[in-house]
Amino acid sequence: MNFYLQLDLEKLLFYLLKMDIFEKIREFKIIPVVTIKNINDAIPLAKILIEAGLPVIEVTFRTDVATKAIGVLSSTYPNLLVGAGTILKAEQVKKATNAGAQFIVTPGFNPKVVDYCLKKHIPIIPGVNTPTMVEWALDRGVEVVKFFPADLSGGPKMLRSLAAPYPTMRFIPTGGINNSSLKSYLDLPNVIACGGSWIVRKDLIATGKFEEIKKLIEEVLSLIKQ
Ligand code: 3PG
Repeated sequence: MNFYLQLDLEKLLFYLLKMDIFEKIREFKIIPVVTIKNINDAIPLAKILIEAGLPVIEVTFRTDVATKAIGVLSSTYPNLLVGAGTILKAEQVKKATNAGAQFIVTPGFNPKVVDYCLKKHIPIIPGVNTPTMVEWALDRGVEVVKFFPADLSGGPKMLRSLAAPYPTMRFIPTGGINNSSLKSYLDLPNVIACGGSWIVRKDLIATGKFEEIKKLIEEVLSLIKQ
């Protein structure tokens, strides 16, 4: 195949892949940010997410079982959208995607990590919380960013301000969001979803209270539908 045609085809395929993932996230409206400490918790957590109707999870790279958890989840539940979060290095991107992660989330805007993902055609949602960082993303053709830490960075008010100069940018606010503030973010036209750990609470995972977590997920989902 013609070299340039092949390049364009690759770009098109990456674009379609990204759009598919972002569209799913937009439909789910929530990304549960989950830190798995014990690998045995991975399957029960995925099971309740799927049963409750929220088949998406961002597994944070904050424990040494993160890669294994992504691997187990991706191979057991092909219809679960599995992302890797708290990614700080390109090395971790490799580990996460080799294990099956379909998208990468970073807390800050690390150009090395972002550029690595773009070069490898891996959907990346980098963290930003200033106009400058939004421009770094725009410059690279990144359409969706994480707004982190959302509450401390000005919350919905800041996102409204960012909409004026950057009308095409879409945000996933994360950090300090809960059931009371969720709607104020999701109602904004430049927000496609919210992320957070409040839906799948650490203490409930640690004590194995999966049914309680399921109730919390269902509660959040019913709140979104209102
Ligand atoms: C993250 O990594 O995205 C945050 O830790 C999630 O923030 P939260 O714990 O305040 O929801």
